[in-house]
Amino acid sequence: YLFLVDRDEHVAVKVVRNIECFRNVAKSEISVLEEINSLDDDNRFACVRMLDWFEHEGHICIVFELLGVSTFEFLPFSVEQIRQMAFQIFRAVCFLHRNKLTHTDLKPENILFVSSAYDYETVKRWRRLTLRSLDVKVVDFGTATFDHEHHESLISTRHYRAPEVILDLGWNQSCDVWSLGCVLMEFYLGCTLFPTHSSKEHLAMMEKVLGPIPPHLLRQTRKQHYVLHERLDWDEQSSTDDYVRTHCKPLKKASEDERQLFDLLGCMLEYDACRRITLEEALWHPFFGPMRTKKSKNCFT
Ligand SMILES: *[C@@H]1O[C@H](CO)[C@@H](O)[C@H](O)[C@H]1NC(C)=O
Repeated sequence: YLFLVDRDEHVAVKVVRNIECFRNVAKSEISVLEEINSLDDDNRFACVRMLDWFEHEGHICIVFELLGVSTFEFLPFSVEQIRQMAFQIFRAVCFLHRNKLTHTDLKPENILFVSSAYDYETVKRWRRLTLRSLDVKVVDFGTATFDHEHHESLISTRHYRAPEVILDLGWNQSCDVWSLGCVLMEFYLGCTLFPTHSSKEHLAMMEKVLGPIPPHLLRQTRKQHYVLHERLDWDEQSSTDDYVRTHCKPLKKASEDERQLFDLLGCMLEYDACRRITLEEALWHPFFGPMRTKKSKNCFT
């Protein structure tokens, strides 16, 4: 990223390397951004705005509005902060879904604060950084996929990858819901929910947090090397299992406020994509009740 100054307006420019596959991703990102920005003339949904694009010596350069740091830089967040951020993110991604798009790469690094302006706050003699605004925007539409387009079999950054993708069962918008479930958990925990680099270990971690993977999904998968007798082929006595067990604990609910967040997360981290909550439905979950009374009715349309 470069930062340019033009007529006192600061913008961000993404310069894409002059390599065929990167150029194709950039061209795809431009066409997605043209479409979604034009569908959202009044800037009501929190998707980044593309201002322009051009080519310079074979490098595609995409000009964006300038945003702040990513949410990854400010982990963890309180339940109240998560509520405010998730409401904007869900509305933005729900807008993509209504327009037949799946983002496919939702993660804290792809959710940016609109402004990084902060204050110092003193809490119990600790000085703490506090962002002035929790306004966020979703970025990186390079791998966003329209319903009619070819669906790559392997999508998403590992930690946020849905079980149907790992099991190669086919995917659609619901894989974004899974990713956002992992993102909100990370917002809450301050670290990734599934810290792994292997698919089988990833599935074992899911079982530690969420219980057994339903047998009908394991029967359907083409990845039969993950399966033994309709169960995940995993040795509970192994040293890798020790690692998995220490890093992944069942979701536990503490306060009343957390109860609603965890209830929503349970619906988002549903193994079976057919039964997983949609973002449309999630926006009506009681967790967002305080947002609905605060804002006017039309924030749902
Ligand atoms: C996505 O796939 C699931 C499972 O196959 C299906 O139940 C759901 O209706 C699909 N959703 C969309 C938006 O097409």
